[in-house]
Amino acid sequence: MSHEQPSPYASGQPSPAPRPAGRVRIGHLARAKAEGRRFAMLTAYDQYAASIFEEAGIEVLLVGDSAANNVMGHATTLPITLDEMSVFARSVTAGAKRSLVVCDLPFGSFEASPQLAVESSVRLMKETGIHAVKMEGTGRRAGHVRAVVDAGIPVMAHIGFTPQAEHALGGYKVQGRGDAARLLIDDALALEAAGAFCVLLEMVPAEVAAAVDAALSVPTIGIGAGSATTGQVLVWQDMMGLNPGKLPRFVKKYADLRQVMGDAAAEYHRDVVDGTFPADEHGF
Ligand code: KIV
Repeated sequence: MSHEQPSPYASGQPSPAPRPAGRVRIGHLARAKAEGRRFAMLTAYDQYAASIFEEAGIEVLLVGDSAANNVMGHATTLPITLDEMSVFARSVTAGAKRSLVVCDLPFGSFEASPQLAVESSVRLMKETGIHAVKMEGTGRRAGHVRAVVDAGIPVMAHIGFTPQAEHALGGYKVQGRGDAARLLIDDALALEAAGAFCVLLEMVPAEVAAAVDAALSVPTIGIGAGSATTGQVLVWQDMMGLNPGKLPRFVKKYADLRQVMGDAAAEYHRDVVDGTFPADEHGF
């Protein structure tokens, strides 16, 4: 597959995307793709992050099951439960007045049947006020996607590297190389046909992601998938420099919050120990 595919999305300038007066809806994302405009998604797991990101213009907030790693300290996304996702999702919708909020269906909450996928999605929507769910899997999950969409719930499909299948995939590996590129495109087409409003591509060669985006009418979102997808997503603790671990190559570090927070905590500690805090103005 050639690396020469031109991106249909304009480069070099911020997208002149008209910010909708109210809530960002799936129709706005569809329009962005149709008009060759990009949009951005960030993970969020709590109300303050949600409000900061939407004030910064982030169109979509993902309550990712990556809360398992990034908030709860698990090694993988596998242990997080639907109950726990519901708490994180509720916290994000409390802080997000404009962004579209998408919540992951966690491992174990949907695979067994389309019916279970519907039940879990309905539960998340009722309990949390999210606007869409994200479902990991290949085109084999098209039936699950269709059932949830038929229940009136928008579905973002997630293909390529899917962290819930980490063990089946043999670890964190780029997907869709060589002959597997055709399978990935077919999966994306099957998920679009099943009604997915968007297809997320994780750790896929840039030219394969470009081919998927070109094949689909619905928008694509990339993470480690090059620049030819309609949108991009990053985990916020990675891109803000809170995560002290080794970051994947696809992450760009936009801030060093670990340093900022560490300095503030150390200054507070010094102030408390030497009696500088609280000062008179902090008392009653
Ligand atoms: O859970 C998550 O944060 C995700 C992103 C990596 C896309 O699925």
